[in-house]
Parts: sequence; C-alpha cells; structure tokens
Amino acid sequence: MSGNQLDKKSQAWSALFSEPMSELVKRYTASVNFDKRLWRADIDGSLAHAEMLATQGIIGAQDLADIQRGMAQIRAEIESGEFAWKLELEDVHLNIEARLTQLVGDAGKRLHTGRSRNDQVATDVRLWLRGEVDAIAALLGDMQRALLGVAEQHADTVMPGFTHLQVAQPVSFAHHLLAYVEMFARDAERLVDLRQRLNRLPLGAAALAGTSYPLDRDLVARLLGFEGVCENSLDAVSDRDFALEFSSFAAITMVHVSRLAEELVLWMSQNFGFIDLADRYCTGSSIMPQKRNPDVAELARGKSGRVVGHLMGLITLMKGQPLAYNKDNQEDKEPLFDSVDTVSDTLRIMAEMVAGIVVKKEAMERAALKGYATATDLADYLAHKGLPFRDAHEIVAHAVKLGLQRGIDLADLPLEELKAFHPSIEADVLPALTLRGSLEARKVRGGTAPVQVRAQIARHRSRLGD
Ligand code: ARG
Repeated sequence: MSGNQLDKKSQAWSALFSEPMSELVKRYTASVNFDKRLWRADIDGSLAHAEMLATQGIIGAQDLADIQRGMAQIRAEIESGEFAWKLELEDVHLNIEARLTQLVGDAGKRLHTGRSRNDQVATDVRLWLRGEVDAIAALLGDMQRALLGVAEQHADTVMPGFTHLQVAQPVSFAHHLLAYVEMFARDAERLVDLRQRLNRLPLGAAALAGTSYPLDRDLVARLLGFEGVCENSLDAVSDRDFALEFSSFAAITMVHVSRLAEELVLWMSQNFGFIDLADRYCTGSSIMPQKRNPDVAELARGKSGRVVGHLMGLITLMKGQPLAYNKDNQEDKEPLFDSVDTVSDTLRIMAEMVAGIVVKKEAMERAALKGYATATDLADYLAHKGLPFRDAHEIVAHAVKLGLQRGIDLADLPLEELKAFHPSIEADVLPALTLRGSLEARKVRGGTAPVQVRAQIARHRSRLGD
C-alpha cells in the first residue's frame, strides 16, 4: 500500500474491514491533534530503528538512505508548518509513515519491519519526556537560584515564624526562603531518580511478544541515548510508570509552588505587608480603583489543582489494565503534556517573580514584635539557670499575660518586674528577649541563626555548581 493508498483507504489495516469507520469513531479514536507534538521523537526513533535494520541487513543500504532523505524532508515540512496532518491517519506515527511512503516509496513501507505502534509510541513518549525532564531540571535550578539570591540579602532580616499561622518564634526571612530551596532540591532529586527508569528503550518489543527479526536493541538504545532496554516485551509496551512517576513529581512540585504562592499572596496583603510584587505580576480591578491583585501567584497556586488532578487521572488510567497494550494508554498524553506545560511555565514565572520581590524589612520586624515571639527564649533562659523547662514555661506564661495586659513586648517590661516572676532573672536576660538575640541563639545545624543560614546558602550554591 503506498502512502496515497494508505491515505485513501484511511486505515492502516483496511483489508479485513468491510465498512469504513464512522466520522464520530474517527474523531473519537484519533490522537493526531495532540500527539503530533511527539513528531521529533517519532522521527528520531524511526531513524535509529532504520539504521539498526540496515546494520543488521534486514533492510538495504539504499532503503536506509531513502528513509533518511524522506525523514529530512518531513522534518523540514513540519518545522515550516507545511506538513498536512490528517485526522484519517489517526496519530502522529501513521501520519509520518504515510508521508514517508509517499515521498520514498517502498523504503517507507519497510521502516515498520519488526516494529509496532505499541513499542513505537512507548519509545516516543519516553524520548520526548526525557527532553522535558532535562529542561524542567534546569528550571528547578533557576527557581532555587532565585530564592537563594533573595535569601543572600536577608540572613539578618527578622520575621515572625509561624505555627498554626500564629506568631511562634523569630526566624530570618532567608531561613524561611531556604525551606523552599530544600523542597525544590528534593524535587530535582526526584527528577534525577525517575529519569533513570524513564530512560530505557521499549523498541524491539514490537506489538507485545517481541519479534522474529534479528534486531539489535542495544544498538538502538545507544543511538537514542537510552541507558538500557526494557527487558520484558509485554511490560515494555504497556508500562506507563514513567508517566506516573513524572506526574507524581509534577504534583509534588506544584504543591510546593502552591505553598510558596500562598505565602506571597498573604505577605502582600495589607494585613501582613511583608513584601510587594512587581506591577508586571499583578493586575488591577475593573471596579475597585485601589486594587493591585497578585494574580500570577494566585494562578500558580490554582494550577497546582490540575496537575494533582492529572496524577489522579493517570494512575486511574492504569488501574486494572490487563497486559499488554490497550488503547486506554492513548489517554496518557494529554495529562502528561499539560503537566509538563504547567510545571514548566509555572516554575519559569515564579522564579522571575521571586527574584524581583520587594522586601519590607520593618514590617516583618514589627510583626515579629507583636506576638511574644521570644517567650520560648525566656523559658530557655530560665531552664539554663537550672529550672525544669516545664516550670519555666509556666512562669513565662505569666510574664506574657502581664505584657498582654500592658500591651507591651517582653523586652519592654522593666527588669524589676521581670525579676518578680523568678529571682534567677537577671540583667543578662535582655539579649534573650530581643528578636536578634533569639535568632542568634538558634545556632544548631539547620537553625535560623545567621551563621547557620549562611552555611545553608553556601551548601546550596556549591550543590548547584554556582
Ligand atoms: N496512538 C496510539 C497511542 O497513543 C498509538 C498506538 C496504537 N496502537 C494500537 N495498537 N492501536 O497509544
């Protein structure tokens, strides 16, 4: 069947069929509208397969040359937008193969020797996703660098640390941002890890059982940069763990983004007033002239929903599927594509936005002074003087009560009055009651003391190779 015939008969398997597919079924089953995005991977995979077929003497050298010439032209046609994608040809694979056969004749028809669309599509998605994984790894690096850049300016900027969103203890703004660097660093580790299992070659599995042609799978793997081959043909065509792993990476990363986005939104609100976001990331209101809304941060928070949803969709897609390939698997693409797009765009925009935030140090410090954030420090002070911590805790609660009655901070209570709470309170208590003293005291590894925070920053910079 020539490319034209394939075109006319509209189906790659037509001989057996006595009636054409209805228009509705055609539309329902076709994937070309979205899977054409895999075209580069499809061509690269086909070229590697063809080169191996020629090396093994399964097709001739002339066939290989024809296939290479045809594919070069198809590549140019797709790049320039001239390529005519046809719904009748169902998917990216059949569209490209039909055009190849139209261009180079029989050699095009030999390309599919020892191959099925089942191992072809699994190969294409892996190849495509591998490229995206590498791009996203770079974006995660940029995100971490943006956070580190701000953190470097703020190892001494004090803000309230929260638990239950109630003021808890003073932390530095840098320390707070570095918590997100940790999250994104773990996300990057997850990518490195999943890439290894993603980077294995399904081709050679053919439809499901392998093939009788003497294929050299290792050669194809080498040509395409795969680290190994899928070892069981049934698993090779049906496994979509790599999509699940990526989606779970994406969902976790977006959940991290959503937490950061939520904090940016809160911090920018009038009630916090800790930061400002550049105008280019905000929008106004059509009715309230005074409004500047942090839309980008809100959308980033909101978009985490669809990515988490895609993980649910994909994992449900796989549940209960019998071996081996089922058409269900065509449904893996749209959620995967959308997750890749959403994570990529979101990381890019969040990194830019974070790099440009305006930090309002005084407001942060004022907020830290409001909630008796150094109460634990006073309790620790008493415990150092020999009191059991539980008793110290109780005594400090009384001191806080007095502060609340007077509307002043612990550090502003006269020393004489503090002493009345316990005789071991002396003049050296004052540093423990200040925000800076409290910060400096938390020198434990991983703590918020500026010296530790600077050590964290240095560790991250060297990990990122900066
Ligand atoms: N478009 C199909 C997919 O995405 C390609 C594989 C089709 N294989 C088949 N036996 N119908 O899964």
